[in-house]
Amino acid sequence: MASQSPRPGSAGRYLFLFLVGLVVGVICTVMVLRALQARMDPFPDALMNVMAHQSGELEGAAKANRCTTSDTLPRVQSLRMLANDIESAFPDLRDDTRFGTAASNLRATVDKALASPPADCTQLAALTRQIGEDCKACHRDFR
Ligand code: HEC
Repeated sequence: MASQSPRPGSAGRYLFLFLVGLVVGVICTVMVLRALQARMDPFPDALMNVMAHQSGELEGAAKANRCTTSDTLPRVQSLRMLANDIESAFPDLRDDTRFGTAASNLRATVDKALASPPADCTQLAALTRQIGEDCKACHRDFR
C-alpha cells in the first residue's frame, strides 16, 4: 500500500496557510476591537478617574499632615465641579432616582466642605471618609 505521508513541499504549504490564517485572524481581531472602542464614550470613565485622582490627593494630604485650607480647598473645589457632570456622563442612568440621589449626596458632602473647609487633619480625614462613602453608595448599585 502506498504510504500516506504528504508529498515533499506540502509541509511548507501548510505552514504558509497557517501563517496567513494567523495574520488574518490578528487583523480581524484588531479591527473588531477598534470598532468596539470607537463606540465607547471615554467621558464617564475619564470623569470617574479624575474624581478618584482628586479624592486620592485629599487622602494623601491627610496622611502627609498637609491639612491647611490652601492644601485641600483646590481639590475640594475641583471635586465639586466634577460632580456637576455625573448625570451628564451617564445618560442611561440619570433618570434613576437612586443614581440622582447618590450624585446629590456627594455634591452635598462637598458643598458642606466648601462652606466650612476642614481645619485640621482630623477633619480632613473625616471628609475623605465621607466622600469615600458617597462614592461607594453609588458604586454599590451602579458600577
Ligand atoms: C452617582 C453615581 C456615582 C458616584 C457618586 C460616583 N461614581 Fe464612580 N462610577 C459610577 C459608575 C456608574 C461607574 C461605572 C462606569 C463604567 O464602567 O462605565 C463608576 C466607575 C468608577 C471608577 C472606575 C472607572 C473606570 O475607569 O472604569 C472609578 C475609579 C470611580 N468610579 C471613582 C469614583 C470616585 C472616587 C467617586 C467619589 C468621589 C465616585 N466614583 C462617585 C458612578 C458613580
